[in-house]
Amino acid sequence: MSTASPSDDRFRGYVHKIEQLLEQRAPDKVIIRKLSRATKELCAEGSWLQDDHRVGDPDRYTRHMLHRDPLGRFLVLALVWQPGQETPIHDHSCWGIMGMVENALEEHAYQRLDDGSRPDFCDLTKGRSMDVVQGGVSYLLPPHEEIHRIGNTSDKQAISLHVYGRDLDAVNVFDPDTGKVSKLQIRQSDDKADKRPFVV
Ligand SMILES: [Fe+2]
Repeated sequence: MSTASPSDDRFRGYVHKIEQLLEQRAPDKVIIRKLSRATKELCAEGSWLQDDHRVGDPDRYTRHMLHRDPLGRFLVLALVWQPGQETPIHDHSCWGIMGMVENALEEHAYQRLDDGSRPDFCDLTKGRSMDVVQGGVSYLLPPHEEIHRIGNTSDKQAISLHVYGRDLDAVNVFDPDTGKVSKLQIRQSDDKADKRPFVV
C-alpha cells in the first residue's frame, strides 16, 4: 500500500482547489457544491490515478491515502473494492465527497430518528439508495446527511475517490437492529505496527 501523493497535475490542481475553498472559509454546503463539480471533472477520466493506488485486497476493501492535509483540515483517499466488499453503516462527523473513478458502487443513506444524545444508542431509518457510477459523485453533509453504507454489488473491481473534511481518527458504526453505536478508531497510514483497522 502506497501513501505517496499522485504527482499528476490534475490531482495537484484538485488538492489546490480544496485548499482554496477552505481558505475562503466557505460554508460546508458551498464546499460540497463546488467540490462536487471539481470531483466530477477529476473522475471523468481516471488516468491520473497511478497503478499502486489501484491495488485491492481479496479480504477487505482497501484505502490508499492520496493526500493528507498538513493542517489536518482534510484527507483525500482512493478506495479499491472487490466484488461483494462493503462498509458497515457509519458516519464521519464531517462533510465528505465521493467520486467514482472506475465502475460503480451502491450507497444507502440512513437518518437518525433519535436525538443523538446517547453516544451508544441510535434509532435509524433507511433513506435513499443510489448507484454512484463512473464519473458520478455523492456527498456527506452533517447533521442530516452523514450516515451511510457503501458496497460493491457488481462483479467487477470498483475504485472511488473520497475527500473528508477533517483528519479522521474515529467514526461511529451503527447496528440498526440492536441500536448499538460503536466508536471505531481508524488509522491513516500503512504503519504495520499500528493494529487499528485501515478501513471505513
Ligand atoms: Fe463513509
